[in-house]
Amino acid sequence: MAILVTGGAGYIGSHTVLYLREKGEEVIVFDNLQKGHREAVMNDVPFYEGDLHDSALLDTVFSENNIDAVIHFAANSLVGESVTDPISYYQNNVSGSLNLVDRMVKNGVTNIVFSSTAAVYGEPETVPIQESDRTLPTNPYGETKLAIERLLHWADQAYGLKSVALRYFNAAGADPKGRIGEDHTPESHLIPIILESALGKRPYISVFGEDYDTEDGTCIRDYIHVMDLADAHYRALEKLKRTNESGVYNLGNGKGFSVKQVIDTCRAVTGRTIEAVTSPRRAGDPAILIASSQKAKDELDWIPKYPDVHEIVEHAWNWHLNHPNGYAKEGSVDGLK
Ligand code: UFG
Repeated sequence: MAILVTGGAGYIGSHTVLYLREKGEEVIVFDNLQKGHREAVMNDVPFYEGDLHDSALLDTVFSENNIDAVIHFAANSLVGESVTDPISYYQNNVSGSLNLVDRMVKNGVTNIVFSSTAAVYGEPETVPIQESDRTLPTNPYGETKLAIERLLHWADQAYGLKSVALRYFNAAGADPKGRIGEDHTPESHLIPIILESALGKRPYISVFGEDYDTEDGTCIRDYIHVMDLADAHYRALEKLKRTNESGVYNLGNGKGFSVKQVIDTCRAVTGRTIEAVTSPRRAGDPAILIASSQKAKDELDWIPKYPDVHEIVEHAWNWHLNHPNGYAKEGSVDGLK
C-alpha cells in the first residue's frame, strides 16, 4: 500500500518523503510546485504535478495507485501573507483541502495525517501550550488550519475518515546528511534569514521587537527539527492504522529560545559576523510560544532526536553553505537522483 503526500515537494513535505522512503514506505507525491521544488523529491518517487482543486487528477491518482493513507501538507503557510491576502488562504487551505477530503471519501481512502500549526492557538493563555487549550487564531492562516481540523472531526463522525492533526511549532533545520533543506521565496523565517545574513546575502537581520515581556525583550519560540517532524508523521500514521483512532498532537521541544539567543547560536555555529538591527514589532507575533508535546511522547512514542538548537542550526547551516541559492538552477540535488 502507498502513502500519498500532498505538498511533498515543500520544506516539511520533502523531508517527510525522504524519511518515509528510508523507512521502506511506498510514497507518491502530489504538488503544484507553486512553492515546492521538484529537485527536493527523489526521481524514482511517482510525482503528480497538480492542484488540489483538480478533482479529475485526484481521482486518477487514487485509481492508478494503491493508496491507503494521505499525509496532507499542501498549503500556503505564511502568517503575514495570510493577513494581507486571506482569500488565497481560504482558497488553497480550506477549499483545496475540502476537495482532497471529498475525493478521499469518494475513493474510499480512510486515513489522513494533517499538517496543522501552533497558530491555531493564537495568543496563548498559558505556556507550555496543551492540545486541550483554547483555540482562537489571530490570523487567517491559523483559522484555515483550524477549519480543516474541524472538517476532519465531522468527516470522522459522518464517513469514518480517521485523522491525526499535527500542530507544529517552529520547524527548522535540514536533512542531517545535507541532501535537502529549506528554500522559501520569499523567505520570512528567522533561522534561514539569519543564515542568509551570515552568507552575506543580506546586510543584517532585523529583530522584530525588543520590548516584549521576556528576559531579553525578544520573542521566544519552540524550534523543532524538520526530521523530528517527519518522524512524528510516520508514527502518527502507524498509530492511526493500528488503532483506528483520530487525534490531535502538538509537536515541539518544550523549550523556548529568544530571537537574540537564536542569533547568538547562529554566530557560534557559523563563526561569521551577523549584524542584528532592532526593528519594530511584527504585527500578530505572540511573545512566547512553547509546546507541551507530552501527548505525542506518550501516545506516539515520539522522542525528538535533534532537540538541541545548536544542532538544528548546524544542519540548516550545512544546507545553506552548500546551496547558497537554494535549489535554483542546480538540477538534481546530490543524493536524490
Ligand atoms: N523574526 C525576526 N526577524 C526576522 C524574522 C523573524 O525577529 O527577520 C522573529 C519573529 O518576529 C518571531 C520569531 O523570529 O518572533 C520567529 O519568526 P518566524 O517567522 O520564523 O516564525 P513564526 O513564529 O512567526 O511562525 C512559525 C511558522 C508559522 C506557524 C508558527 C507557529 O512560520 O507557519 O511558527 O508557531 F504558524
